[in-house]
Amino acid sequence: MRLIVNGVERTVHAPPMTALGAVLRDELALTGTKLVCGEGFCGACLVEVDDAAVPSCQVPIGLLDGRQVRTIEGYVPLSPVQQAFKDNDAVQCGMCFPGMAISLTALLRENPQPSEEDVRAHLSGNICRCTGYQRIVEAVAR
Ligand code: FES
Ligand code: FES
Repeated sequence: MRLIVNGVERTVHAPPMTALGAVLRDELALTGTKLVCGEGFCGACLVEVDDAAVPSCQVPIGLLDGRQVRTIEGYVPLSPVQQAFKDNDAVQCGMCFPGMAISLTALLRENPQPSEEDVRAHLSGNICRCTGYQRIVEAVAR
């Protein structure tokens, strides 16, 4: 299988039903993508595939031959979302953060001026056990 990961062509040898998230972490050593629930509920494993945010624990690698994948390591320098989280002290343990950054970047691409309600609705698929979300919502507004 051939993937373009963060702009670089990579060859992957995993069986086709292996989840993209496992390939990113275990074969390509891109451990910024977090696998938490492994069932598509928490949003920690989100990555971009052809500019859409997808849960990498649910996507079999066999569907992705030749596709563009972007992980949190691909946001260099820091994306505006990452910088705003940093400036607003919106990260605690950090487990949810890569998925949040991918998710919110997708939101801001579609809707550059979301309301607080829009942000909270969009984040319903991203679980954070630490922050209570308030600082995250403020960071997005920023
Ligand atoms: S690890 Fe993929 S949604 Fe939770
Ligand atoms: S900062 Fe710890 S889970 Fe969100």
